[in-house]
Amino acid sequence: VDQRLADYRKIWDSKPVLREVYHDYYKRILQACNSGLTLEIGGGSGNIKERIPNVISLDVLHASWLDVIADAQKLPFKPNAFQNLILFDVLHHIENQNLFFKEASRILKPGGKIIMLEPGITPLSWFFYNFLHQEPVILNIDPLAHNSIDPERDPYDSNQAIPTLMFGKYQNAFFNTFPEFKIIQKEWLSLFAYPLSGGFKKWSLIPPKTVLPLLKFEEVLLPYIGKFAGFRLFVTIEKNS
Ligand SMILES: C[S@@+](CC[C@H](N)C(=O)[O-])C[C@H]1O[C@@H](n2cnc3c(N)ncnc32)[C@H](O)[C@@H]1O
Repeated sequence: VDQRLADYRKIWDSKPVLREVYHDYYKRILQACNSGLTLEIGGGSGNIKERIPNVISLDVLHASWLDVIADAQKLPFKPNAFQNLILFDVLHHIENQNLFFKEASRILKPGGKIIMLEPGITPLSWFFYNFLHQEPVILNIDPLAHNSIDPERDPYDSNQAIPTLMFGKYQNAFFNTFPEFKIIQKEWLSLFAYPLSGGFKKWSLIPPKTVLPLLKFEEVLLPYIGKFAGFRLFVTIEKNS
């Protein structure tokens, strides 16, 4: 087992507030799924299996709870194999998103979906992600520019700005490059509960029982202030039938 995945799994097991926050995310992801075969890309510590039944979990790192060890940029599946691909905090870790979306387009059935729940960069979250988080936020790049593939690259290397750029400033360029996809959902999420929970960090500023009331309160505010203060971006795209 990769040591980092084992460490994240330990934090998951010992942190009820994190599980409360993530179970809400899993519920949203499940609601976005088609019925049929689902592949999770970048399954990591494997927690999504608690809420999403029959998901096949893939990661480039090894762990006993994962089903397939492979690279998202070269997927070992036949064409038209899946109804759903789930990426939870993974798109911004992939080195070359172009290669991934080509593969995704190949292995998805017509009408199949790519469901992505990722960091979202807003004026408020930028401040926190930029100054208080170890992963970089690099906004002045073109996420569709081809990068070379470095076999020595750490799969935890990332640019947290990629999802926001890809489905914001570069959204038209994305759908020109991948005309077989259309966007069916784009939402800003996570105002208080997620950042205050500390995520996979060891600390939390809130007790588990405050999570559900906070999420209810967020639901009311998100349509108004999500794009200025949300910490996450939830995007679903669909392959044309
Ligand atoms: C931040 S973790 C997210 C893990 C999990 N989805 C979660 O929400 O807890 C990112 C994961 O993506 C994986 N990853 C990064 N690049 C990948 C690639 N090219 N192919 C497959 N998995 C990759 C990493 O190994 C890591 O487990």
